[in-house]
Amino acid sequence: MSDRIFNFSAGPATLPLEVLEASAQALVDFEGKGVGIAEVSHRGKEFIGVLEECKDRCRTLLNISDDYEILFMQGGATQQFTLLPMNFLKSKAQYLNTGQWAGKAAKCAQSFGNVEVIADSSDKNFSYIPEYQASNDVDYFHICTNNTIFGTRLSSIPDHPHLIGDMSSEIMSREIDVNKFAMIYAGAQKNLGPSGVVLVIIRKDFLASGKTDMPDIFNYQVIAEKDSCLNTPPTFGIYILLENFRWLERQGGIAAVEAVNERKAKLIYDAIDNSNGFYTGTVSDIDNRSRMNITYTLPSDELTAQFISEAAEQNMQALKGYRSVGGIRASTYNAMPEAGCEALANFMNEFASKNN
Ligand SMILES: Cc1ncc(COP(=O)(O)O)c(C=O)c1O
Repeated sequence: MSDRIFNFSAGPATLPLEVLEASAQALVDFEGKGVGIAEVSHRGKEFIGVLEECKDRCRTLLNISDDYEILFMQGGATQQFTLLPMNFLKSKAQYLNTGQWAGKAAKCAQSFGNVEVIADSSDKNFSYIPEYQASNDVDYFHICTNNTIFGTRLSSIPDHPHLIGDMSSEIMSREIDVNKFAMIYAGAQKNLGPSGVVLVIIRKDFLASGKTDMPDIFNYQVIAEKDSCLNTPPTFGIYILLENFRWLERQGGIAAVEAVNERKAKLIYDAIDNSNGFYTGTVSDIDNRSRMNITYTLPSDELTAQFISEAAEQNMQALKGYRSVGGIRASTYNAMPEAGCEALANFMNEFASKNN
């Protein structure tokens, strides 16, 4: 096999080699049974075993109490933008607009009821987390805890009785208290596994308070009753999540992975901050810098293009920033090894001293 690159893609994103190899093996032959895991019924004992172990490990890793259901759904995080209000918006919901995905989530809710955006950082291209104060007497309050495109995160999670978190780009990368949330959702394709699976963690009393006048396939209560198997779930995707959860446990769990993520992010932020202004972090609000998506610009578009192409020659790929931010975005999810961040930081230092 060719050497693996350091893949800084924002998603779908790099996965641990051990996870890919174990999954590839199970795709061909699951536990020596002469059949692959993607070839067996979702109602058979092999897949049911995978699903149960996947839920159990997820529960252990995130310390999720029995007050919560764990669901594996489809349709991406984007589908959750619509299912959430379809199920739970009865009169009014509040949203915090901290980026493109948060804004899209709020927009999707508008056809279901009264949607109030209580704070918004679009005036400065989402380079900071605005001050906000949600009201308790709403159906729910929606936040995006990590803004994949703009490189910000909510360093602290607010208190709210019906808090909903889009954690697509940072789930399982830092310790969070699940008990603070009524519901968490996350598209898998950044920190968990392949696209096509969405992890949903939902408090049982909140779940029971939802509306039911909708087709079953959109109804969280029915999906929970059917244990994520109302129809055929993305079985192989869920298998990859299971391998990733096993891998996370071998790393020492979320606290251990978070410590590594802190070190990784610091390497790159230090390279930005010690560059005498050659690199400019796009996030004005240092306390809310993302540990998963590190965004910065160079002095010119020409230097940015040169940076991306020279980095690619050194096996560091997918560093181009999102079009509305420009510059560089280095996504440093759990599976990005520390060596990848060291290589990038060293390259940044050399590039700055050559071109400053
Ligand atoms: C924070 C966040 N929310 C939602 C989405 C949309 O996810 P999907 O493409 O799975 O619908 C993304 C995709 O990058 C994201 O980063």
